Parts: sequence; C-alpha cells; structure tokens
Amino acid sequence: MAEDLTIINGTKQEQYEVLIPQIKALLQGEPDLIANLANTVAALKEQFCWFWVGFYLVKKDELVLGPFQGPVACTRIRKGRGVCGTSWAEAKTIIVPDVEKFPGHIACSSLSKSEIVVPVLLNNQVVAVLDIDSDAYNSFDETDQYYLEKIIALIPFG
Ligand code: SME
Repeated sequence: MAEDLTIINGTKQEQYEVLIPQIKALLQGEPDLIANLANTVAALKEQFCWFWVGFYLVKKDELVLGPFQGPVACTRIRKGRGVCGTSWAEAKTIIVPDVEKFPGHIACSSLSKSEIVVPVLLNNQVVAVLDIDSDAYNSFDETDQYYLEKIIALIPFG
C-alpha cells in the first residue's frame, strides 16, 4: 500500500475502524516482526497522537524495549513490575486511569498520566506487551482494549 495513512476525526470507535484496515494492509505479506511492530506503533501514534506507544518484548526473564514512538523510555522491566510487568505476569490487559494510583507504576516520564497495556499471547505464553501512555488522565477504556487486542491479533508473532 502507499505509505500514507488516512487520518480521521471522529469517535474513538470510528478512528479505530478506519485505522485497522490500514494496519492490515501495512502488515500484509511482511514477515519481519520488527518492521511490523514499528509500523503498527507508528500508525497508532499518528492517528491518536498519544504521548508514547511501543512494544516491550519478552526476552528470558525480562521485558525489553522494542519498537516505539515517543520519548526515550526504560529499556528493561522485570515480570510483575510496573503496569507492563503486571500485564505480563497476569496475561491480561490493564487499564490505568491515573498512573499515580497504580502501585509500582514505572514512571518513564512524569508527563504520562494514564496508560493501557495489552499482552500479546502466543501458544498461551505472553511474548510481548503493547504499552500506550497518554498525557491526560482517563484516556483509555474498554473500547481501546477491544480494538487494541484486535490490532495485536493481526500481527504474525509466530
Ligand atoms: N509505565 C510503564 C513503563 C513503561 S513506560 O510507560 C514507556 C510501567 O509501569 O510498566
């Protein structure tokens, strides 16, 4: 596809509905995981202008920073630590309306106010997490969870 995204205004749902086919097209026929993760975070960042969007990849007993868009971030997170490490340990999506109220939240930037972390499961094992930070409180809800889980399912991790 052409390397231009169509960016729309509209409800969150409308934005995801227009974005998802474009992410599908970007991933189409491309087997390289890093290339696919890089374009997925770029597309999400471009449409939603969130503060930080990126993947952490499970490597041995840690999450290691992968492709991302936004300010520099911490490179390694241990299982059970922070929102990302908790999402990994519990193998479930975590929505944090106010990061200061999440025990153990890892503050890569004081500008981050709310967060969603979605785990990527392959054969029932978490192999990565998608982490999104917003500079506003209460940015994420079940709509984001629904669509972000859909987007992650499009990426060939195997
Ligand atoms: N806040 C995350 C750490 C990663 S940065 O937000 C990019 C956490 O608590 O796991």
